[in-house]
Amino acid sequence: MKIAVLPGDGIGTEIVAEAIRVLETLDLKFEMESALVGGAAYEAHGHPLPEATLKLAKEADAVLFGAVGDWKYDKLERSLRPEQAILGLRKNLGLFANFRPAICYEQLVGASSLKPELISGLDILIIRELTGDIYFGQPRGRRTAVDGHFPGAEEAFDTMRYSRPEVERIAHVAFQAARKRSKRVTSVDKANVLETFQFWKDIVTEVGKEYPDVELDHMYVDNAAMQLVKAPKKFDVVVTGNMFGDILSDEAAMLTGSIGMLPSASLNASNQGLYEPSHGSAPDIAGKGVANPLATILSAAMMLRFSLNQPEAADRIESAVQSVLAQGLRTADIWSAGTTKVGTREMGDAVVAAITKKTITG
Ligand code: IPM
Ligand code: MN
Repeated sequence: MKIAVLPGDGIGTEIVAEAIRVLETLDLKFEMESALVGGAAYEAHGHPLPEATLKLAKEADAVLFGAVGDWKYDKLERSLRPEQAILGLRKNLGLFANFRPAICYEQLVGASSLKPELISGLDILIIRELTGDIYFGQPRGRRTAVDGHFPGAEEAFDTMRYSRPEVERIAHVAFQAARKRSKRVTSVDKANVLETFQFWKDIVTEVGKEYPDVELDHMYVDNAAMQLVKAPKKFDVVVTGNMFGDILSDEAAMLTGSIGMLPSASLNASNQGLYEPSHGSAPDIAGKGVANPLATILSAAMMLRFSLNQPEAADRIESAVQSVLAQGLRTADIWSAGTTKVGTREMGDAVVAAITKKTITG
């Protein structure tokens, strides 16, 4: 088993270092190899996703990814910006199925901006299609308008598109995931306006007939955004396109009050996957040793479960995380009065200690 480790930029290197220490504590037989990605790769090799990094990722069983991006690259031409690295990895590895859980940890109920009763016990799984939609649709670009409100003016355009097989496969992923949970899927679309999402809705409905045991409902994206803050516990599995999934998953993550706690997995058809925290590179706190490593540590647990076939090891990490929260340890992002503030390294230490202790006491 081989893991490609791509820490990236900003807090990426600090949080991935803690996840690696946790993985090493487990005494499992896998090989880890690191490479540069994002702004760090651009600085060293002139490209955010160098050939060697892509090759390493393709050949690995799983990729553990930190975060990419920094404001200082905003002026670069689009193809050289750090974000292109993650988009390129998704496309080249065919990582079409993105799992973004939004779980409210009981000890962190107070961290949410919503009332505790609205989010206590929250456990949503957003399944975001990740390699299609307006993110990748061609054509795109800039040109002189020939029609529209201002013919002759400069304009920019992107293309929203989905093919039938793309929608079918993500729908299957959602229904199968729902079978392992509470057997409910909400498909989010904008079928009232967009042809692409009427097509999406029709296909999800068709695929749903193969899963009579799973309850399917449909919701427009604007309403879904509203329901997420009004009554988030109504949702269980949410399946949606790339763009709506990007937006709704940030919203759902923040409901839990702790985006620093949430892992994610992006899988292809052969269960090869890329695992990354749901948050970004946070350049404002990079290098200060205060970032929360738990989302990345929990992403490593997802990696063990989904791509490396080590469910017990995944359980060990997850219960170690529960136990450090129960001890009252908190990084700055989730700190509140009465708990103990710790840095990135100390949080990693605590998870390692919790795993080691459980191992000794059995
Ligand atoms: C995410 C990020 C990316 C996205 C960016 C960095 C390209 O926001 O993973 O949600 O838009 O998909
Ligand atoms: Mn996003």
